[in-house]
Amino acid sequence: MPLVSTRQLLDEAAKGGYGVGAFNVNNMEQIQAIMEAAKETNSPVIIQASRGARAYAQDLYLYHLMLAAAELYPQIPLSMHLDHGNSYETCVSAIELGFTSVMMDGSLKPDGKTPATFEENVEVTRKVVDYAHPRGIAVEGEIGVLGGVEDGHGAGGTGLEHLTDPDQAVEFAERTGVDSLAVAIGTSHGAYKFTKKPDGSVLKMDLVVAIHKRLPKTHLVMHGSSSVPQDLQDIVNQYGGKLKQTWGVPVEEIQLGIKNGVRKVNVDTDSRLAITGAIRKVFAETPEKFDPRDYLKPARAAMQKVVALRMTQFGQAGHAGDYKAISIADMAKGYKNGTLSTKPEVSK
Ligand code: G3H
Ligand code: 13P
Ligand code: ZN
Repeated sequence: MPLVSTRQLLDEAAKGGYGVGAFNVNNMEQIQAIMEAAKETNSPVIIQASRGARAYAQDLYLYHLMLAAAELYPQIPLSMHLDHGNSYETCVSAIELGFTSVMMDGSLKPDGKTPATFEENVEVTRKVVDYAHPRGIAVEGEIGVLGGVEDGHGAGGTGLEHLTDPDQAVEFAERTGVDSLAVAIGTSHGAYKFTKKPDGSVLKMDLVVAIHKRLPKTHLVMHGSSSVPQDLQDIVNQYGGKLKQTWGVPVEEIQLGIKNGVRKVNVDTDSRLAITGAIRKVFAETPEKFDPRDYLKPARAAMQKVVALRMTQFGQAGHAGDYKAISIADMAKGYKNGTLSTKPEVSK
């Protein structure tokens, strides 16, 4: 299957009542791990790259690896998504390269640190939508600001400082025409999300419910959704790592989100932990080894394991064969003739 639009994946997920994991990549092994997990579980999947990933791997390497994935796994609906685009220019460059969806994270100013005003966010996101939709490319916006900092991106804090306001979410969706909406509900990027198993005082799933009530047909996106499982923390620390005890987003909370309109679930940290734990184990147990394949193979297998588990937990498993690819050119026609709606259904 050619690379498809994330909008198609999310529309199908809404029909089927499941969520789709969006897994971050920086290199070939991570793409291979995700595709093998998708094959193993028969899952449609979103692969996403941040600005940091694009700089690390170089755009063309990433793009051609994604084309290879699409060619090698023709049975898997696969989209290539820009994660946290910081400006109009970044989104345009991703679309020109061949990404099939972009996130315009206008919740922050282009420095990727300073919270933007609502009007600034609407303006830049609308501009990206106006560029993307005539080209058949889907756009994710963000309203509210997540916590944490990853690779210099993020406002910092706990994630409770700029929670999404449901009324603003409605206005934002109406004024921008985004295909999906990332919401701030107390999660943050990276490993250090919560200091104990989160309850409703720090992880605001009630906000997801409230936003979904107002925007029942809008695809919601949960960022910072790694579960940071204890066993992965333990493997890293058992083999010389120095992670402080931490808690992520419990899978059952994500599943509650999926019942309430969450269609895209962003996961990066769990993959990082799986990879690092596996590599540390090889280094600690067999320090004489120096062929990168000796540690990259187990690293890849460890990431595949956690990704396959998340695919099953999010409900996308088993759905790869449900539908045929809509070409990006046909997506463009759909936006033009209105069959792909960009006007949210709003209820009181
Ligand atoms: O949103 C953050 C993702 O985990 C990507 O992180 O910017 O370090 O590649 P990165
Ligand atoms: P985690 O750090 O929880 O994996 O979140 C990843 C993410 O939201 C990427 O956009
Ligand atoms: Zn994110």
